Amino acid sequence: MDHIPREFISLLLDKVDLVDLISARLPIKKKSANNFFACCPFHNEKTPSFSVNQAKQFYYCFGCGEHGNAIDFLMKYDHLGFVETIETLARQVGLEVPRTQHQEDKQDTTAPLYAITAEAAAFYQAQLKKSPRAIDYLKQRGLSGTIAKQFGLGYAPAQWEQLLQQFGDTAQNKQKLLQAGLTIKKEDGGYYDRFRDRIMFPIHDRRGRIIGFGGRIIDQGEPKYLNSPETPIFQKGQELYGLYQSLQANRKLNRLLVVEGYMDVIALFQHGINYAVATLGTATTPHHLHQLLRYTNEIIFCFDGDEAGRRAAWRAFEVVLPMMHDELQIKFMFLPEGDDPDTLVAREGKERFEEQLSKALTFTNFFFHHQLQQADLSSMDGRARFTAQALVYIKQLAPGVLQEMLLDELAKKARITAEQLKQQTGHTQSVSAKRIANGRQIKSQTTTPLRLALILLVQHPELAHHISEPLPELSLPAYPFFIKLIEICRQHPHLTTGGLLEFWREQKEEKLLAKLASWELVIPETGVKEEFLGAIRGLTRSAHDQVIQRMLAKAAQQGLSDEEKSQLTQLIADK
Ligand code: GTP
Ligand code: MN
Repeated sequence: MDHIPREFISLLLDKVDLVDLISARLPIKKKSANNFFACCPFHNEKTPSFSVNQAKQFYYCFGCGEHGNAIDFLMKYDHLGFVETIETLARQVGLEVPRTQHQEDKQDTTAPLYAITAEAAAFYQAQLKKSPRAIDYLKQRGLSGTIAKQFGLGYAPAQWEQLLQQFGDTAQNKQKLLQAGLTIKKEDGGYYDRFRDRIMFPIHDRRGRIIGFGGRIIDQGEPKYLNSPETPIFQKGQELYGLYQSLQANRKLNRLLVVEGYMDVIALFQHGINYAVATLGTATTPHHLHQLLRYTNEIIFCFDGDEAGRRAAWRAFEVVLPMMHDELQIKFMFLPEGDDPDTLVAREGKERFEEQLSKALTFTNFFFHHQLQQADLSSMDGRARFTAQALVYIKQLAPGVLQEMLLDELAKKARITAEQLKQQTGHTQSVSAKRIANGRQIKSQTTTPLRLALILLVQHPELAHHISEPLPELSLPAYPFFIKLIEICRQHPHLTTGGLLEFWREQKEEKLLAKLASWELVIPETGVKEEFLGAIRGLTRSAHDQVIQRMLAKAAQQGLSDEEKSQLTQLIADK
């Protein structure tokens, strides 16, 4: 995304209208001058709680919390990547995306590879129709013709140069086959087909392009699966088998099931569970998780019930932990020994399988379950060790309801009070304080000047132009962020809330910004500008107080010079 100049993105957001964009896709009703409402496309609901503000160019769902600007909406709604979204929006308003050389080069080299993998997939599919042995195998595994077609299954014939003869007519084409990982170079210079006598599973990227293959042996033999090597268009640790089909089958993915095998995904789909993906023979990576979280906030990991499965689950847990937050649901399902999802769904059917899914261990339960396996709670020593170890993980969570829950649970298990535990973590914010902060309406008088200034500025970026005095120096955690916001708003006179948010895409302040943007303030009649300037005056007063406090501390510790003393007197008098 850093290939597209930021200025262009700002320009684009300035030209696109969020209300137009959304109303082209959803029925949307005008409520007041700037406010529109619709039924949220990102969760199921009957009464509209999805609000779109035209002035702010920002949408927010009071039901599920989805929010963002035009780019976010299109990414979510059309399942597009960032760059694709920019391209789509640019096309709509008749702008051309400025590209760096780097990106053009990359496109030129990969396009022929996508073409050759697509051709190879079609070839394998045609070969499947001619191979009764391969067809029988798939039938015997319980797959229907429809599902084989949906996943584009094929067959690579038992010969060394089929693909080569078919597509490798020129030196250039031979090179393409090699680059796409479909052939292997011999030591003496020739080539041969990588996949021979195997059932072929094409691997699609999110957009449906074929980027590689998995090939399963038909009878017994080693290796059972052969995968495409890493190529310019295929990185194993990033792709998820079945994601494309899951996206195709569901406008909105309420959840995604993560399993281990190709056959598991296909069998699940065949039995109506059309929201399953598999990693390609690797453990779950942060990259996988990041991908999944773009489409859903409920993920169920499915593992074997044995020791290896438990270990794999814990590895997945550790990947999830830093990305975990209150709105996410992560679950862990362990299969009965001897089963995999393929055999289980075939035997039990969709409903009973989903019933098992609903009984999967929650994030919290799995965490304690795992921690307790190695703990001894009968001694005080053991409990202290257990507490210390559990805290290592719990501290990695962002403060919030989930962290509170884990701390409460930990306290219960370790038989200490929640207060004692919170003292240990330096954790002070109570759940109730958090709840109030998350509430939708606050009165402008009941919050701190900085928070008020932040909310008002994010919701009305033009306010930045009304500050005439220099801003005070103040040491408060969010203050540098506020200064930065002011700076950006001043540099971009026409910025909307949605446009402002764009500057923080994928940065840690992104969530805070969205919260500020969706806050409903009750503003007194004097108006927004007066409130804002009042808040700025409040900041100046706080800065004053900080200086006084610092000088008083110094006076107590080392004494003040005469000059400082008179300064302090003056400061206190000013108050
Ligand atoms: P079936 O045995 O046909 O039911 O396939 P499966 O998809 O259930 O495979 P399994 O559970 O044995 O393995 C899970 C995943 O690990 C597979 O889908 C592959 O991605 C990967 N895998 C399994 N065996 C091999 C192998 O021999 N080599 C490689 N590279 N990957 C493998
Ligand atoms: Mn299997």
